[in-house]
Amino acid sequence: MNPSLAERITAIRRSRGESLAILAHHYQRDAVVAHADILGDSLELSRKVAGLTARDIVFCGVFFMAETAAMLAKEGQRVLIPAPDAACVMSEMAPASLVATVLDRISAAGRDVLPLTYVNSSAAVKAVVGARGGSVCTSANAGKMLRWALDQGRGVLFLPDKMLGQNTCDTLGVAPERRHILDIRGGGAQLDLRAAREAEVLLWPGQCVIHSRFKARDIAAARKAHPGVKVVVHPECAPETVRAADAAGSTSFIIKYVAEAPRGAEIVIGTEINLVSRLARRYQGEKNIRPLCVSSCSNMAKGTEENLLALLEGLDAAAPVTVSDAVRVPATAAVARMLEVSA
Ligand code: 13P
Ligand code: SF4
Repeated sequence: MNPSLAERITAIRRSRGESLAILAHHYQRDAVVAHADILGDSLELSRKVAGLTARDIVFCGVFFMAETAAMLAKEGQRVLIPAPDAACVMSEMAPASLVATVLDRISAAGRDVLPLTYVNSSAAVKAVVGARGGSVCTSANAGKMLRWALDQGRGVLFLPDKMLGQNTCDTLGVAPERRHILDIRGGGAQLDLRAAREAEVLLWPGQCVIHSRFKARDIAAARKAHPGVKVVVHPECAPETVRAADAAGSTSFIIKYVAEAPRGAEIVIGTEINLVSRLARRYQGEKNIRPLCVSSCSNMAKGTEENLLALLEGLDAAAPVTVSDAVRVPATAAVARMLEVSA
């Protein structure tokens, strides 16, 4: 009998021993997660990379995550991604050249705003941000990082997720009239420079199409169908959705919320379906877990057992994710500020 894909992956992992580490984001499919040495959300995975000693780090996630890992990896370590075409749609809404142009135009209009980028952005964007004294945040530390950025007293450009930006402003009490969503059409030609000079928080108009599918009306329907249900959503959802939920937080927050709910709890979750289905199975017979609606990240789904095995079989000849020094130095400075401020 031919060995299964899983058996072949396991055999390679055994033969490589400590020289190989497989990291996976919670949104990866179960068949991939089954092979992970470390499973985590973006913040947890970024933190873990710094402590790894493996020569080869295989990152099962979307490209910006592997790129962040490549930036944080030590000399001699290689980061590889089984599906290099897995691009986060939200991160692509903020191309580095446009971010630089917009910051330059605002600066020429008399305002030197501090950029704060969500980790869902390219290394090139993190470099633009880092070179201007800015930093990075994840959904797990966005409140802390936005507070830090506001305290610098320059005004903040939060990018690329306007939803996470608005939700974090809500949490910190930044009034709606102190925020401004930038109009980046025409390469920045449409910017309202007066509003950009006056607002406390400028928001890049990006969003996650997977999380913006969850609506406040879905929550109302869930409450009607299941009275007493608790609803928890990811902060990439729209502010109205977050306001209608009982709680909102990062992937690690959602996992903890479910773990700490009492036996018999009914919980509806608004986030990527792979994580929701895994939680539903983990607590089957103990807690009743349902998705708010089924929303799948097609880019996360590009990570498969097939391409993981193909990468592992050709590991020594595989091309690692690389970040040029010109990008890595300022981008790492931005990430290092985050790890320091949010430690
Ligand atoms: P986390 O920061 O919660 O891992 O989320 C990453 C992501 O891509 C959510 O869509
Ligand atoms: Fe990007 Fe949204 Fe997919 Fe997360 S779920 S990787 S933000 S497209």
